[in-house]
Order: sequence, then C-alpha cells, then structure tokens
Amino acid sequence: MDVKVNIRRYDPDAGAPASFWQEFSLAVPETATVLDALIQIREEMDGTLSLRCSCRSAICGSCAMRVNGHAVLACKTRASESLNSEGVVTVEPAGNMPVVKDLVVDFDTFWDKIRAVEPYLQPQGPEPEGEYIASNESMLHLSSVTACIMCGACVSDCTVLEVDPTFLGPAALAKAYRFTADPRDGDAAGVSQRRLEQLSLPSGMWDCTRCNECVQVCPKGVAPMDRIMALREQAISLGLGDNNGARHAEAFTESVAHSGRLDELRLPVKTVGMFNLPALFSFLPVGLRAMTHGKLPPLVHKSVENVQSVRRLFSKVSQPPK
Ligand code: FES
Repeated sequence: MDVKVNIRRYDPDAGAPASFWQEFSLAVPETATVLDALIQIREEMDGTLSLRCSCRSAICGSCAMRVNGHAVLACKTRASESLNSEGVVTVEPAGNMPVVKDLVVDFDTFWDKIRAVEPYLQPQGPEPEGEYIASNESMLHLSSVTACIMCGACVSDCTVLEVDPTFLGPAALAKAYRFTADPRDGDAAGVSQRRLEQLSLPSGMWDCTRCNECVQVCPKGVAPMDRIMALREQAISLGLGDNNGARHAEAFTESVAHSGRLDELRLPVKTVGMFNLPALFSFLPVGLRAMTHGKLPPLVHKSVENVQSVRRLFSKVSQPPK
C-alpha cells in the first residue's frame, strides 16, 4: 500500500524557523500502523527523524502524537484508516507540551502536575494486621481509571490547557480521582477532604470546561472529564462550596430549576459572590462591550413557556437514585 506521511518536524539545532512540514512517500503493508510507517521512514529514508516508542502494543504510552489533528497512540492507529482522499496522513507532535525535536515532546510539566496531586495512597488510622481490604465493587469502579497509561493524549488535546497552562489538566485530575475514590485512601473527613480542597483551588477541577476532547482521544477509556465531574460531586457532597466553580454550578442549577433557562446576568454575579466588589467591577469592561455589540442578556429574566414541566423534570432528576 502506498502512503504519504506528512510530518511536522522541528530541529532545535538547525536554526531553521520553528517547524516545517516534510512529506515522505513509501510503501507499507496493509496492516501497518502509523508508528510502523514512521519507523520505516526513520530506518530507510531519514535517520534524523525523532520519535518515541517502546512496546508497539498500546501499553507503554510512549507513542502519543497527533494524527490528522487528534491525539492518538501511533502504534494503535492503522495507517490505512488514517489516509485522506489523496493518500496522505498528517502526523504532528502531541500538543500542549514543548517540542524537544520532531515528534518528541517534553513531559516535565505533565509529571509535575501528576506529582502535585500526590499520586499514592494515604491510608488513615491504625495499620491493619494483614492487607488493606477493599471491596470488589470499589476496585471494579476504579479499574477503568487505573487503566491510564500516562500517554498524555488527553493533555495534548485539552482545550483549557491551550489557553491556561496552569490548569492541572485531565491526566492529573483523573489520577487524583483514582485516590479520592479509593476506600483505602483516608476517609471522607480526612485525606480525601484535604485532597478535594486542594483540587478545588484555581487551576483545579473547576477549570475544566467539559469540552469532552479528553474523553474522545483517551486510548484506554479512562474518560478523564467524567472523573473530573465525579471529583466535583465529591467536593460538593463534602460541603466544599466556597469557591467560584461550586458557586457557578449552584447558580446554574438554581436558575434552570426556577425558570427553565439560564439567567446569564445573575450567573457571573452569583459565581464570584454578591459582595465581591473587585471581581464584580472587573466584569464592567465585558459588560460594556456586550452592551455596545447588542449581546447583553435581557435585564428582566423570564421563565420559559410551560416552566412547570421543566420543574417537574428537574425535581425528578434531582431525586437520589433508588
Ligand atoms: S509504543 Fe507503547 S503505546 Fe505505542
């Protein structure tokens, strides 16, 4: 099978412009993965091409990169299924991390953020005589999140990290959930509470915008965004509501429960707190811009037609599951 592999390359020593595209034409077996094609290029056409790989079996997580604009494991991605109508597959380094060379990125900040969530069990109380016992259900619940192979695909395509590099990011937050949901890790009033308090700070769990990219690109079904939502639920159920994120969620819910739609004018006010004057004043320029562009939400918030139905629905979904 003939393929063209268009690679975004970068060589810090070449003194060339930041990066450039280079296309390679080659013949690969029908069953070849994108990684197979890249290795073939490196071995037969250009030995300077840099990339990371190890297991070639979607286990080690080394070969995460962007193929056709989305993060994947190159060893788990068939070349034949990645070609466009002209037989070209586009390969770039993973995003949101500095490029070292070609397809190799620097994982330092990735690991810093994983370390920041204290990724180890911190049991409380007296040590058991034997091993710590955890129920089958609790371990089954954690099995999908422990499947993370730290490949960085979720971090690569996180849309928040693109604009705010301080965000802890989907990988670290999913890792944090792996411990807050582990029955051996402290208890509701101990370690978990401290973990959740820290994760509720700015750049933590509340900064996720729920774009779902991390869920789409995770090659192991970890669904980091769902874990972040679970962290939020844990935090709220422990009463950790004194932060912008929790207040935002509460104001959103209140508004929909009451009028069936979002009160966009009150939402930011309730999010930062009614008496937080510096934050409220900081909204003025945005408000003025919205006004001059005719985008200011209505000053009088009205309920949707037949709001009773929305309220009925709302009270149904608010009931705890049986
Ligand atoms: S080379 Fe190990 S996951 Fe791809």
